[in-house]
This record gives sequence, C-alpha cells and structure tokens, in this order.
Amino acid sequence: MIDLSGKRALVTGGSRGIGAAIALALAENGADVAFTYRRSAEKSDAVVKSIESMGRRAVAIQADSAAPEAIMRSVGQAVSALGGLDILVNSAAIGHTGAIDEIDVNDYQAVMDVNVRAPVLFATAVIPHLTKGGRIITIGSALGERVPFPRHNGLRDVQSGTYLLHPRSFG
Ligand SMILES: NC(=O)c1ccc[n+]([C@@H]2O[C@H](COP(=O)([O-])OP(=O)(O)OC[C@H]3O[C@@H](n4cnc5c(N)ncnc54)[C@H](OP(=O)(O)O)[C@@H]3O)[C@@H](O)[C@H]2O)c1
Repeated sequence: MIDLSGKRALVTGGSRGIGAAIALALAENGADVAFTYRRSAEKSDAVVKSIESMGRRAVAIQADSAAPEAIMRSVGQAVSALGGLDILVNSAAIGHTGAIDEIDVNDYQAVMDVNVRAPVLFATAVIPHLTKGGRIITIGSALGERVPFPRHNGLRDVQSGTYLLHPRSFG
C-alpha cells in the first residue's frame, strides 16, 4: 500500500482490463484519477462510479489514442478537472492476431500509432504539468522479448522495446 493521497493520475485505456484495474488501484491508494477510453462508455461510467464510491475524484475522457489532437485535448481536460497531474500511466493498447507474414500495412500502422506513438505523445504533453517527483509508467509485455509461438506477429507487444528507450530520453 502506497499513500497516494492528494496525487492526481491520468491512465490511458482505463475503461476495462488492466487499465481499469490500475485506475481503481490508484484510487484505492488515495489518488484522484482521470482516464481515457475509446469506445467503452458504459464500462467507463462504472469505473468512474467505483472510484467516486471510494471518495476520490474520477473523470472519464473519450479520446482516441491514434489521434494526436485527441491526446492533447485529453491531457488538457485531465489537468483542468484535477488541477494538475502527478502520475501518467500509459496502458491503452491494441493488437492484431495472425502471423508475421500476414501483417497488413494498415494494421501495422494502427498498432504503431496507439501502442508506440501515443505513449510518447502523452508523455510529451504531460511532462510540463508534472509536479516534482512525478511519475510516468508505461505498461509493456514480457512478450516484447519472447516469441510465444512460431510466426507470432508480436504486434501488440511492440511497445515494450520502445519503452526501454524512452524513459531515458525523458530523463
Ligand atoms: N492482457 C494481457 O494478458 C497483457 C499482458 C501483458 C501486457 N499487457 C498490456 O497491458 C495493457 C492493457 O492490456 P489489456 O489486456 O488490459 O487491454 P484491453 O482489455 O484490450 O483494454 C484496452 C484498453 O485500451 C483502450 N484503448 C484501446 N485502443 C484505444 C485507443 N485507440 N484510444 C484510446 N483507448 C484505447 C480500451 O478502450 P475501449 O474499452 O474504449 O476500447 C481499453 O480501455 C496493454 O498495454 C497491453 O499490451 C496485457
């Protein structure tokens, strides 16, 4: 248990799955939480209600991570709603099943936009707002280093290699 009382967090992809679990865990530890989602409005409402029932502030922001302008807008909305930011968690990601030699170029670009470019753009937009001791956490996957089966396309896990580099770039 870490005391996050008074901290303000932005979680990308907080409507369901691991991102929702992270948003709830941050709130359980005392943080107010803004999170983005793409389509899951009802699930987002449920996450907001759960966080508010803990006595924390919660804001669900519809924003497609594939769109740079939506990323900038969502960071602005989170900062306005919470009065600043102390923590960014990049969790939103997409994937495509199939073999490496069947990758469609549009699917490849979509994954790059959401899994690789968006965490960098979120970090760039959030850094000017971070308080001293602020944190940027990006969720990766062990599958970024291992191939689970022959011809696995690895597209969902492509962010992991990038994440090893960017934290150093951001100091
Ligand atoms: N699940 C695993 O076994 C596993 C293992 C290792 C690592 N991870 C990593 O953990 C993270 C979360 O995975 P998960 O399995 O919890 O994912 P998930 O259940 O598929 O949920 C994905 C989340 O990201 C959001 N999202 C997807 N595309 C988006 C977009 N273009 N713009 C904004 N939000 C978008 C979704 O919003 P909507 O609901 O609105 O679509 C949802 O909230 C990912 O980074 C993944 O690589 C997962």
